[in-house]
Amino acid sequence: MLKGKKILLCVTGSIAAYKAAILLRLLIRSEAEVKIIMTPSATDFISPLTLSTLSRNKVLIDLVYDDVWVNHVLLGRWADAILIAPATCNTIAKMANGQCDNLLLSVYLSATCPVIIAPAMDEDMWYHLATQRNLDLLQSIGNYIIPVNNGELASGLSGPGRMAEPEEIIQYLENHFDAKQSLKDTMALVTAGPTYESLDPVRFIGNYSTGKMGIAIASELSNRGAKVTLVLGPSTEKVPGNINTIRVQSAEDMYNACMQHFDDYKIIVMAAAVADYRPSTVADQKIKKGSAGFTLDLVKTKDILLEAGNRKTPMQVLAGFALETENERENAQKKLAKKNADYIIMNSLNDNGAGFGQDTNKITIFEKSGKEFNFSLKSKKEVATDIVNIITQRINE
Ligand code: CTP
Repeated sequence: MLKGKKILLCVTGSIAAYKAAILLRLLIRSEAEVKIIMTPSATDFISPLTLSTLSRNKVLIDLVYDDVWVNHVLLGRWADAILIAPATCNTIAKMANGQCDNLLLSVYLSATCPVIIAPAMDEDMWYHLATQRNLDLLQSIGNYIIPVNNGELASGLSGPGRMAEPEEIIQYLENHFDAKQSLKDTMALVTAGPTYESLDPVRFIGNYSTGKMGIAIASELSNRGAKVTLVLGPSTEKVPGNINTIRVQSAEDMYNACMQHFDDYKIIVMAAAVADYRPSTVADQKIKKGSAGFTLDLVKTKDILLEAGNRKTPMQVLAGFALETENERENAQKKLAKKNADYIIMNSLNDNGAGFGQDTNKITIFEKSGKEFNFSLKSKKEVATDIVNIITQRINE
């Protein structure tokens, strides 16, 4: 399954570096094409000659060889995946902080392919909040972390921090590339962010949504090979370049963008916090302050999820969100039925760490069939993985 895959294996200075030779053999045996980068300190643990012989490629350590600059940008573009194994806490910290003092880090910072990290360190370093924060940050910006093992460590202690075994790393890579195929060319539509409903040229009615959750779902769908259109309300969050993003302002704009090619989409996830009401008129000029109070006349916006539920065919899978503050389960289940959705993803503002602007979320997914899936508090990226796992399973049934 790794046949023909281009893997850039990066080795850093950990005692686990000796396992890089075994990992490399397994990669070559799987018929992957492998290039190697080592950090200077990795050469204290394993000889570049061993790795160059096994990979049949020159091992790269420095940015310059005989006055010739190594093109780190092209190395990152060449690879289908960068695998950093073992990854020391020092390299992890530098990656998390965008430092760039060796070839590995400059390749990492310019890479456009997935980056998979297999950490290796002692138990105390693993548990240190700085390391955990760095790993969380790397994961939140799209890197993949292979879980460490529990067991004998270089210090003589026993605990978490051992690099995953080479066979486990190969399995992880295989799963990673398999997952990328699971939604290949499936058309997906995602809405995200708030909507702004204009009142006059300088004011609007809006909400606190940032779009993070919807963007994470769009990214996850795209990682699995789907062709994603993201209809995004006003948001300052970054969107990966491979996602076709339509930027909109109001609920009406969002409705129009969603309905334009609605029948083409097989997966539809509506994560936007759409305004339910808009001002009945939009003043041409700035509304001036009067001496008395001010009453706004509001009219209902179109409910995009409801319309999607009415229009969808049995071939389409439709998921919506329910952000609730009270009677969460009951309200979410009502929305599932009323909007004819296949899934309602419920989150509650009563759960710490869930809701607008947070990097984490805690969800329960209600399925039309009556099934219910409960999840713990996780990063929005992990939550997106859980949601897309359930949708993918359904699509591939
Ligand atoms: N939604 C939509 N269009 C709207 C309002 C909501 O597509 N005009 C979608 C949201 O994207 C979300 C789901 O409907 O997927 C539920 O949104 P929510 O605001 O929780 O519920 P409402 O239907 O607006 O009901 P209420 O505000 O009364 O809870």
